[in-house]
Amino acid sequence: MVPVNLMVPSTLRTLGLPVRIGLAALLAVLVTGWGVSVHLAVERSGDEVWSALSPEACRLRTCAPPLERAMHTTMGHHIPDSRERRVVVTWIHHGARMNDYYGEPSGILARRCQTCHGASPQASVRLLTYGDALALSQAPGLGGRDPYHRLRHLHVHLFSLGTVLCLLLLGLAYSRYPRWVVLGFGLSPVVALVLSVGLTLWGCSMPGPLGYVVLWLCEGLVIGAWPVITALVAWDLFAAQPGTDANS
Ligand code: HEC
Repeated sequence: MVPVNLMVPSTLRTLGLPVRIGLAALLAVLVTGWGVSVHLAVERSGDEVWSALSPEACRLRTCAPPLERAMHTTMGHHIPDSRERRVVVTWIHHGARMNDYYGEPSGILARRCQTCHGASPQASVRLLTYGDALALSQAPGLGGRDPYHRLRHLHVHLFSLGTVLCLLLLGLAYSRYPRWVVLGFGLSPVVALVLSVGLTLWGCSMPGPLGYVVLWLCEGLVIGAWPVITALVAWDLFAAQPGTDANS
């Protein structure tokens, strides 16, 4: 038996059937949006689902400069030799200095990338000069050039999720669940969301992995809480009222 004193009567359940079906349809649309957001994150990481959701993938997606990210993800197959990739990434991590550029990195980029990103570049991404490579080696959101504004797009998805989470929180607050469930599943993803937007701007510039690991945890909380909240609200819309006999 479910302990009745932990429950409050659901106001969602008292709504008329057409309204509840409408709300359920809305939930279905939103959960599809959740799937699309996760899919986009995976696709942008160009990898398997689980490795695309790892802390390293989170760093690549959010904190790494476009040149580093592209070499590990969308443009990875153009530079199949992992040693060459390491050379360029090391150059980026050591400050993308001009002197070091005219050693190996410039040769690798010329050989692997300039057929498409040369004088008449594809996707407006030019990798012809040191200046081009430097611009793409700066961190996104910190003055670097990011042709696809992927950072902002990803967080627009997350942000719309968060807005809706707030609405669902309101719905949950009036429903049958105890307050700690409402606060736990409703409020913590919203807090994580706000934190992750801030961390996207400042966390990436923290020394060491702390910034992006916290960012990864926040994103995980938002992504993970979403289906749980949807399931709770969906259940609340259609399940029977608790304790209608003795307790009300
Ligand atoms: C065969 C052509 C081709 C080659 C070779 C190529 N690219 Fe691209 N690149 C593209 C096209 C097309 C796009 C736009 C579509 C996309 O994002 O997949 C693009 C987009 C990009 C972008 C911006 C979008 C993103 O994914 O971040 C970067 C940065 C980039 N390439 C870097 C590189 C680097 C570095 C290399 C060499 C290792 C390289 N490209 C080799 C065709 C190419």
